[in-house]
Parts: sequence; C-alpha cells; structure tokens
Amino acid sequence: MKNIFLFLALFILLLTNLCFAKDDLPGKQIFYTSKGKFGSCNYCHANGTSAGRFDPATGEISEDEGRKIPSLKGIGKKKDLEQIQRSVESMRKMFGFKLTNEQVKQLTDYVSTL
Ligand code: HEC
Repeated sequence: MKNIFLFLALFILLLTNLCFAKDDLPGKQIFYTSKGKFGSCNYCHANGTSAGRFDPATGEISEDEGRKIPSLKGIGKKKDLEQIQRSVESMRKMFGFKLTNEQVKQLTDYVSTL
C-alpha cells in the first residue's frame, strides 16, 4: 500500500515538473538559483531590472557607491545574442559563477526575452 502512495507522489511530481518546464526557459532557473561570489544574477539584476549600484568593496548593493547595474529589460531588442552572450560570459568571470557553456547559452536566451 505504501508503495502505491510513493508511486503516485512521484507521478504527480513528474507531471507538475513537466508543466512548469513548458512555460519557463531553463535559463530562468539559472538566473534565480545559480550563485556567484555575490549571489545570483537576481541579486543585482532584480527580476531583470537594476537593483541599484554594486559596490565591490563591500559586496553590497548601494544607492550611490560603485558601478551602476544596468537593467536587462528590453536588452533583446537593443543587442544581438552574440553581444548578450559576451556580457553573460564576462559576468561569469567577474562574479565567479560556475556555469557551463550550455548554461551561458540558456541564460543568454532567457535574458534576451526580458
Ligand atoms: C554583483 C552584481 C551582479 C551580478 C551578480 C550579476 N551582474 Fe550582470 N551586471 C552587473 C554590472 C555592474 C553590470 C555592468 C557591467 C559594466 O559596466 O561593465 C552588469 C551587466 C550585465 C549585462 C550587460 C547589460 C547591458 O546593458 O549590456 C548582462 C547581459 C548581465 N549583466 C547579465 C547578468 C547575468 C545573466 C548574471 C548571472 C550570471 C549577472 N548579470 C550577474 C552586475 C551584476
């Protein structure tokens, strides 16, 4: 009897996973969950916008110290995929993200839809 419940639970989990996978590009997951030295992409580019300025001295978001974080909204209309991918690669280096080349591509695809 126990096994049937386990099987059902797994089945439902699989089903919900499939449903969400359809709406969400894999890059979206990576954007919110992959962690670099200072946290996820979302830490600085909050929901694709700008969280403010990034102060590398403290590792914190600040209103007036440090480098301005650009919003990523509409970037797909202004820049081509190759340029966006180059930026994602520089983020990977600069902020120590452990991303495969495949994941960089997935992030590029996602960011270009923002
Ligand atoms: C610690 C803060 C921080 C994190 C984390 C971060 N970024 Fe950035 N991002 C910046 C800053 C600052 C710039 C501007 C860089 C510059 O001026 O050279 C930038 C620039 C960019 C650009 C170029 C925007 C443009 O208008 O050309 C893209 C694309 C981008 N980031 C995507 C990402 C992705 C994807 C991640 C996650 C892998 C990420 N960023 C993580 C701070 C951050």
